[in-house]
Amino acid sequence: MSKENLYKQFIQQIEALLKGEQDLFANMANFSALYFETFTPHWVGFYLVKNDQLVLGPFQGPVACTRIAFGKGVCGVAWKENTTQIVDNVNEFEGHIACSPHSNSEIVLPFYHQDKIIAVFDVDASQFAHFDTVDKVYLEKALMILSNACLSVSG
Ligand code: SME
Repeated sequence: MSKENLYKQFIQQIEALLKGEQDLFANMANFSALYFETFTPHWVGFYLVKNDQLVLGPFQGPVACTRIAFGKGVCGVAWKENTTQIVDNVNEFEGHIACSPHSNSEIVLPFYHQDKIIAVFDVDASQFAHFDTVDKVYLEKALMILSNACLSVSG
């Protein structure tokens, strides 16, 4: 199946999966699990904004670093600049945080809830240049569905 069709299927399934559940962390966990099952990336998950750092949240894949400072690494830059980062070769990204030697390309998107950036969504691939605007467009849509399904961070 093409990447675009896989994303269409992912979005349909995520809508069904999140229906009736408003807990943000539970939904982030299933969102990561379904992404992992559908696309089998090296690593996928969320880093949550906590004060001046990002802290590891729900994810699928190998163990990862737990804390990332504001503006550091691909995740910290996505948070600081409030924009999606697509990195074709992480070795060429200044300040990239290598959680795993098997990760070669990466996409990181800001995750908004009630108009505030509360996390970033990070996907790592072992292939170089694995991510493009198809990933960006569909992931932005999927993350919006996730955000709208959830009531609040605490409740
Ligand atoms: N590579 C990321 C760190 C997180 S891991 O890839 C899971 C970065 O540079 O921000």
